[in-house]
Amino acid sequence: MRGLSGEPVAGAVLDVWQSDDEGLYDVQHPGIDHAQARGVLRADATGRFHFRSILAVPYQVPHDGPVGQMLEATGRHPWRPAHLHFMIQAPGYETLITHVFRDRSAYLDSDVVFGVRESLVCDWTEQPDGSYAMAFDFVLNPLPSAPKGAGAA
Ligand SMILES: [Fe+2]
Repeated sequence: MRGLSGEPVAGAVLDVWQSDDEGLYDVQHPGIDHAQARGVLRADATGRFHFRSILAVPYQVPHDGPVGQMLEATGRHPWRPAHLHFMIQAPGYETLITHVFRDRSAYLDSDVVFGVRESLVCDWTEQPDGSYAMAFDFVLNPLPSAPKGAGAA
């Protein structure tokens, strides 16, 4: 985690969430009344963080109502490519809400919600034990400076 000038952002708070291995978020599971596949992390003094989770998979957005009718009318599918969601907050910086996509995922070129940007696609490398590792360097924008004289009476 670093700022726009390359400085490490110590202590940034990261909310991360994802769908499960069935492609569903916890709020989509009837009967699950607790948070699942969500976490809150804090970057260390050098701006680094790490965590382990399950491998993200593509999923379909709910399309049993008007969304489905719109997709059908426009000839589009309901799939999103595999991704993790992040919200990152640090004093002095704009809050960043984004997601990071798994390279080689299906639907990268046809995300139903048009969320994919090349800069958000990351290499998820398979490890000898069958797990995957990915690294992503988030860059935070500083809060805009107050104009000189602002707030002066
Ligand atoms: Fe998602």
